[in-house]
Amino acid sequence: MILVTGSAGFIGYHLSKHLLERGDSVIGLDNINDYYNVQLKQDRLKQIEDHPNFIFQKLDLCDQEGLNNLFAKNKITRICHLAAQVGVRYSLENPYQYQKSNLEGFLNIIELARQYKAENFVYASSSSVYGGNKKIPFSTEDPTDNPLSFYGATKKANELTASAYHHIYGLPVTGLRFFTVYGPWGRPDMAPFIFTRKIIDGETIDVFGHGKMKRNFTYIDDIIQGVMLCLDKPQPCALYNIGNDRTEELETFIGTIETLTGNNAVKNYTDKHSVEMTETWADIEPIKNDLGYRPSTNINSGMKQFIDWYREYFSK
Ligand SMILES: NC(=O)c1ccc[n+]([C@@H]2O[C@H](COP(=O)([O-])OP(=O)(O)OC[C@H]3O[C@@H](n4cnc5c(N)ncnc54)[C@H](O)[C@@H]3O)[C@@H](O)[C@H]2O)c1
Repeated sequence: MILVTGSAGFIGYHLSKHLLERGDSVIGLDNINDYYNVQLKQDRLKQIEDHPNFIFQKLDLCDQEGLNNLFAKNKITRICHLAAQVGVRYSLENPYQYQKSNLEGFLNIIELARQYKAENFVYASSSSVYGGNKKIPFSTEDPTDNPLSFYGATKKANELTASAYHHIYGLPVTGLRFFTVYGPWGRPDMAPFIFTRKIIDGETIDVFGHGKMKRNFTYIDDIIQGVMLCLDKPQPCALYNIGNDRTEELETFIGTIETLTGNNAVKNYTDKHSVEMTETWADIEPIKNDLGYRPSTNINSGMKQFIDWYREYFSK
């Protein structure tokens, strides 16, 4: 049985669905917090909750008793730990939520992973750990001691914790540094969603970094391909970038949405916030070579699938 934490979230929902479709049994855990639209989280869950091999537990990562019961009652063999307080800017407003979910919550899950001798512990890190690094593409060999946000710092702390747990207890751990994931059922707080919504509604979009920021947008199915490869092949102590092999300038990205929606964007060019990175670009050679990861969705076809979903879901 595979435990997927954050299963009402964007990536956790898609992962659970793919695992169920190929015949795995999944326990999904999520506290369904209200950081963004709760209805969207519930609607994601509705897509999978009736599956006979799916169990959902509404549980907080800080509820130690609840977690202990969950592990005692179910034979959890593999864990994909995705639940976290997400968002780079929100970590300025509410840092303690990141401390709770991303530090304390992470420790609670990895502790149970080692107590119950999990066969594999895969967890989400983030491109945010690269902070203001200038060398691109970002490699997992590069130093990551200067994150630009507390969110990035919590993800770096997760990587260090996982490495220590491997060293002390021999727990097989794989960390995945995700790069700007987008696609159907995506996150309303992220640029692909915000730009699409505002361009369709004719609202002004804030274009940070005057359109020169670059992002390594990665389509959800490609991310899921990579996560499943990692789940299926436990490694002693691995850390991978998981992204796309090209990076897009924000201005070009907005142009793609304009073409696909048939609407022109109304733009307000503005400076980049100090917690935001100027450019992200993943060196994905290691995960390609070790596991055969092959991202295959370009921005045009990925955004088309996102916009089709968006229009249907919101009746736009
Ligand atoms: N989406 C991206 O582009 C991206 C990029 C880098 C890293 N990540 C990481 O990937 C993981 C999944 O991200 P996502 O985009 O699916 O985000 P998401 O917010 O959609 O999903 C996270 C889920 O975790 C749940 N959660 C948060 N705190 C919890 C707690 N204390 N107890 C139980 N559940 C809790 C939330 O309710 C949410 O449903 C996160 O760890 C995130 O930091 C995502």
